[in-house]
Amino acid sequence: MVKILLTGVAGYIGSHVAVELLNAGYDVIGIDNLSNSCDKSIQAVSAITKKNITFYKSDIRDEDALQQIFSQHIIDACIHCAGLKAVAESVEKPLEYYDNNINGTMTLLKVMRRFGCKNMIFSSSATVYGDVDALPITEQTTKRDCSNPYGQSKNMIEQILQDLQNSDNSWNIILLRYFNPIGAHKSGKIGENPQGIPNNLMPYITQVAIGKRPYLNVFGNNYNTHDGTGVRDYIHVADLAKGHIKALDAIKINCGLKIYNLSAGKGYSVLDIVKSFEKVTGIKIPYQIKPPRNGDIAACYADASKALKELGWKAELGIDDMCIDAWNWQKKNPDGYK
Ligand code: NAD
Ligand code: WQD
Repeated sequence: MVKILLTGVAGYIGSHVAVELLNAGYDVIGIDNLSNSCDKSIQAVSAITKKNITFYKSDIRDEDALQQIFSQHIIDACIHCAGLKAVAESVEKPLEYYDNNINGTMTLLKVMRRFGCKNMIFSSSATVYGDVDALPITEQTTKRDCSNPYGQSKNMIEQILQDLQNSDNSWNIILLRYFNPIGAHKSGKIGENPQGIPNNLMPYITQVAIGKRPYLNVFGNNYNTHDGTGVRDYIHVADLAKGHIKALDAIKINCGLKIYNLSAGKGYSVLDIVKSFEKVTGIKIPYQIKPPRNGDIAACYADASKALKELGWKAELGIDDMCIDAWNWQKKNPDGYK
């Protein structure tokens, strides 16, 4: 059986990727330091798939721990989702973000190389594009300044991976640039589990819907978009997870370094999301218009046709499914995994 090392396995995206891997017949070796998650998500993945992950509670910066894992398993490829991801926090704690994300990835790559495991799929982000000149964003779009340490860490890791592949073409590397993953597994057993006040739109909306927050703050209504609120390319997390399986299929052939946007290829505004959520749940989401959030851009959406052409992947689920499934998760788990 093909063994995949999945870093960040307990997190929002990692847990959904784990479900798809197990369903596709892969053997999953998971690693997570649980700094932004808990092992209940791993139990939930087993409940969904009726299969088990071999889980290590370890930090990817811990070289000895990685060495142990690679000594115990012959690992065919690594899907690297572990990382710190909060933009605003990264501005306050740049050293922690660079240390975790860059040093973590460097340590992982060194141990992979030592054991001859040179297949890597990396969780990158639309954030690396910055505020681009023209939409939709393709993989060829020139990157613009990315103003926060989180985004810079993703950019730097992309560069490290490119340099590594240039130096040794036996590395097969796929950079997946995720746009805005939302929603949850349809079972409602795994989903996004933010600590404290959610930074992102969908978990904030679901917390308003369940009565934890009185109203949604809509950050800006004067952008140059169809209704003045910010536009993003939301993608159902289950679709996103399936993209990793397609990437694994592609990495089996000698692929060099490839980059793919994973997105639905459509832009929706904040108010479009609110309307869709209200329509599918029947719950009113009160909101107040607030000043734009620092560092936000007006609109960001992608052309995802390269992933379709080369990986045979496209997003299947629409915005209504994303809202239904995000709400199903929140409703079944009002306090997340607690
Ligand atoms: P998450 O915080 O839910 O999951 C990340 C997981 O990595 C957590 O379980 C955390 O405990 C673990 N982790 C962090 N540092 C670690 C370390 N040093 N060692 C071991 N484990 C560690 O975040 P997510 O939304 O699932 O994101 C997964 C990846 O996708 C991240 O790399 C993130 O930057 C990237 N990404 C996320 C989004 C998004 O909107 N969620 C968008 C683009 C890219
Ligand atoms: C979406 C839209 C907000 C919250 C972030 C990261 C990005 C990537 C995905 C990791 C924007 C508006 C939000 C709220 C609001 N993560 N909004 N009220 O900012 O596009 O992307 O997550 O790589 O790097 O920056 O996502 O969900 O925070 O915001 O009005 O309470 O919703 O202004 O227009 P964003 P988001």
